[in-house]
Amino acid sequence: MAKKLFIETVGCQMNVLDSEIVVGTLKKQGYELATEATDADVILFNTCSVRQHAEDKIYSALGRIRIHMDENPHKILGVLGCMAQKDQELILRRAPHVDVVCGTGQLGRIAELIEDAKSSGKPQLALSLGRSDASKDEVERSFESYDPSRETAMRPNSFQAFVRIMFGCDKFCTYCIVPSTRGPEQSRSPDHILAEVRLLADQGCKEITFLGQTVNSYYYKHGDGRTTTLAGLFNLIHDTPGIERIKFVTNYPKDMDDELLDAVRELPKVCKYLHVPVQSGCNEVLKRMKRLYTVEYYIEMLQRCREKVPGVAVSSDFIVGFCGETEESFRRSCDLVEKSMFKNSYIFKYSTRPGTKADDLYPDDISDATKKRRNNDLLAYQDANSLIDHRAKIGSVVDILVEGPSKLAIKHPDGPRQLTGHTMTDHITVFDGNDRLIGNTVKVLIEDATAFTLFGRIVTDEVSGAALVSREATIAKPSVTPAAGRKSLEVIS
Ligand code: 5AD
Ligand code: SF4
Repeated sequence: MAKKLFIETVGCQMNVLDSEIVVGTLKKQGYELATEATDADVILFNTCSVRQHAEDKIYSALGRIRIHMDENPHKILGVLGCMAQKDQELILRRAPHVDVVCGTGQLGRIAELIEDAKSSGKPQLALSLGRSDASKDEVERSFESYDPSRETAMRPNSFQAFVRIMFGCDKFCTYCIVPSTRGPEQSRSPDHILAEVRLLADQGCKEITFLGQTVNSYYYKHGDGRTTTLAGLFNLIHDTPGIERIKFVTNYPKDMDDELLDAVRELPKVCKYLHVPVQSGCNEVLKRMKRLYTVEYYIEMLQRCREKVPGVAVSSDFIVGFCGETEESFRRSCDLVEKSMFKNSYIFKYSTRPGTKADDLYPDDISDATKKRRNNDLLAYQDANSLIDHRAKIGSVVDILVEGPSKLAIKHPDGPRQLTGHTMTDHITVFDGNDRLIGNTVKVLIEDATAFTLFGRIVTDEVSGAALVSREATIAKPSVTPAAGRKSLEVIS
């Protein structure tokens, strides 16, 4: 009988990608995915350390599974990813029923660790070196570049995939644990990235999202002295047959240069969407966060993005309640949100992370009630602007890569079939349609909007009532000839 594997993933897109790769590796070893943890022979938690809340969730889950593990001593329980790298032996002290602790840079060893834990009956730890444990080269090497073995079945669909172009981060923002948990910044070779994009395209992938903690800092030095930047990488992969959309997250404001913005404007497959977290609207706070730019710089950068890439959508991240954030500092974040017309902002309450500079240097002096209130207040400013941004789209026709049924359709399977997908500017859009459109790019006329969602209807051919699908979409067999005067569109029924 096939061995069963259960994996739960928390955290960012990097973790989602890591889990996909772990599953791909273990499937090659004969594992099948189980939907319930208790049905599996191997139970894995791929973890996040960015905020305390994410860690608490994992320790509770480990607590809940303890009796099951004690009753089934042959089963293997593993903690992977950021918490593993950060907490190391502490995990085994708090949860002695854990068999494998495997850091972000050691995931390539997962199959071997599971086998060793089974055969020895002893917990296995695989961790990369700490930042100050050895030379930079040795630390970098200890975060092994885990060459992806992709697992289409692990993704929500086959036509969208993440591609990691960088590991780690060297920015050391004072609040952030990522430089410790994911190690030194390293850019992957363009040849490896291109090979992976081609492989994904061959498997039917149409949209790829390049991932990096600071994706626009991508910089690869070839053996012969040549260099490749993110703009160069876009040019390299742009014409890969089958690829229709290229997204990239997350950008660092200081590295948003004109070469990149020109490439975003010029290359039609590159999405006109920039996620560029500012974190705070107050210079003193930015300084304590060690973000290395001022609010004035950020505003100038925003203007440059909008001048260089007409129609670009920009989103941001904010932390509220960072150490020493006064009411006046917080008001400056509100002012920035009010002025900046972000498409949306992700707002987080500051969570002090042991091992970071901020945790060492500054008291976590803002109460949770104040953090909550500031979070809600800032969100209200953002929601008002999101509504304006979304309503401005009413009346326009947008290209949507149809991703699947909307949340509402999943909840009410007998109701009208609502589908969902994103525009080239990353706006979530909901519209009625047939499941056969999933994976295709369709034209949608936007008719309504809330602060979170655009609502529209598929633009149909007046004669046949068929959905018009953009030419770049691969269609199995168009059964209706495109209507005259609609040369740029193909029709499927
Ligand atoms: N507390 C709260 N939010 C944090 N982030 C990173 N570290 C912390 C922390 N210690 C937020 C930042 C980052 C996003 C991914 O998470 O806004 O951009
Ligand atoms: Fe963390 Fe700053 Fe690096 Fe982003 S740039 S991962 S916030 S240290």
